[in-house]
Amino acid sequence: MSFDLVLFGGTGDLAWRKLMPALFQAFRHGSLPAGGRIIGVARDDLSDAQYRELIQSRFKAVEGAKRPSPEEFEKFADLLHYLRMDLSKPADYERLAQTLQERDADTVVMYLATAPSLFTQTVERIAAAGLGGPKTRVVLEKPLGHDLASNRAINAAVGRVLKEEQVFRIDHYLGKPSVQNLFAMRFGNALFEPLWRREYIASIEITIAEDLGVEKRGAFYDQTGALRDMVQNHALQLLCAVAMEPPINAHADALRDEKLKVLRSLKAWTPESIGMHAVRGQYTAGTAYGERVQGYLQEPGIDPASRTETFVALRAEIANWRWAGVPFYIRTGKRLASRDARIEVNFKPTPHAIFRAPAGASANKLVINLQPKDGLELHLLAQAQNSRKRSGDGTQPLATVQLDLDFGQRFGTERVGAYERLLLDVIDGRLNLFVRSDEQEEAWRWVEPLIEAWQNDSGPRPYAAGTWGPSASSAMIARDGLAWSEEQ
Ligand code: BG6
Repeated sequence: MSFDLVLFGGTGDLAWRKLMPALFQAFRHGSLPAGGRIIGVARDDLSDAQYRELIQSRFKAVEGAKRPSPEEFEKFADLLHYLRMDLSKPADYERLAQTLQERDADTVVMYLATAPSLFTQTVERIAAAGLGGPKTRVVLEKPLGHDLASNRAINAAVGRVLKEEQVFRIDHYLGKPSVQNLFAMRFGNALFEPLWRREYIASIEITIAEDLGVEKRGAFYDQTGALRDMVQNHALQLLCAVAMEPPINAHADALRDEKLKVLRSLKAWTPESIGMHAVRGQYTAGTAYGERVQGYLQEPGIDPASRTETFVALRAEIANWRWAGVPFYIRTGKRLASRDARIEVNFKPTPHAIFRAPAGASANKLVINLQPKDGLELHLLAQAQNSRKRSGDGTQPLATVQLDLDFGQRFGTERVGAYERLLLDVIDGRLNLFVRSDEQEEAWRWVEPLIEAWQNDSGPRPYAAGTWGPSASSAMIARDGLAWSEEQ
């Protein structure tokens, strides 16, 4: 099968940070179908040779083992081509059409790694140039819009010229190996599913913490903030993966139907619940990697009076039969104490205690580590049988122990990364791990009251870089008599 992958935004940040390294890994693993072309598109005036040089120079920033040797890059570079385009000019799409016709590949992937404000126009022009036929697949990067109305407008415009099965809305968290394993754990094993419900689960915590600041993306981030950048998409997709009903099969729509039901069941926000169960913060100067770092307002590209949030903590509830009353705590932020993404499932204690539990020990807990660790931990209570701790009645207090599974070690380091996996899925036409328009709209609908309320409040709460966010986040969870995992 031959393919052409047209990369709009071919000289941009995403192309060289994520997409080119992923395409190179797919090439190195031999999984990129032979005879493909990767056509970078941007406004710069570059020849194929200059584009290859640019990409090669950017590979210097890629971590050691993933960097191509000069010989490997030379082979990979044969796939790379460049086309200068002004995306507002119809004539430039005619030139793209000519380039594609020269080869007439079986599949044409149009990857829109551009500003979302260009999506509608680009997709319409692609179709007007006769390039929207059934062999074309269009990948749309997040954020798709900045609120429900703009998201709907993009989806409607795309839907006028392309069929839903041609549209691949990417959320790279769905491509992470740990998320595949979450599906495998839940739906490939009989062990957990009977317990996966309100009768046995006390609460669920989803944390996506980053230690990085906004880096060079200040201008973009200041218009976006953590709610739109991480919660509306990545965090809610993780919540769906944890909370969805078992799908009838593993096909794309079966999965997406179940995720949609979760999003529809999320309890809607009210002014009271926003006040009690939604916290946002913004980092101030502090430390990262043992060094002093500046605050958000001092970062390049940031408005010094910015009210943009770099941290969000929410308490959500899913109003359905399985989850009624179980709090789902979601938290994400930049410049937090460490890079750490995980889901913690806290089980209820035994209904009747015959042993003494150590003070503060939670009952059973399943931790799904997403990154940097990729694995599962099952926390249990056990007896250490330590002779010195025997009490008068001969019983011993229970101690927390854990079973630890490291998927990185078990399956080796050659595992496929998120973008690599998702790019190959697009080329093969597999939609399972892509987001359908109705799911995306439902997620926007849920976060929209927060966006509105935060426009007129007193602004984000400050937290020092290198901490776990503002104290209001701990206070929010403490109101339920609980604490975030690192505080336990
Ligand atoms: C992106 C966000 O979608 O995800 C970034 O725009 C964030 O702000 C990134 O840093 C996190 O992805 P990962 O895979 O590094 O956890």
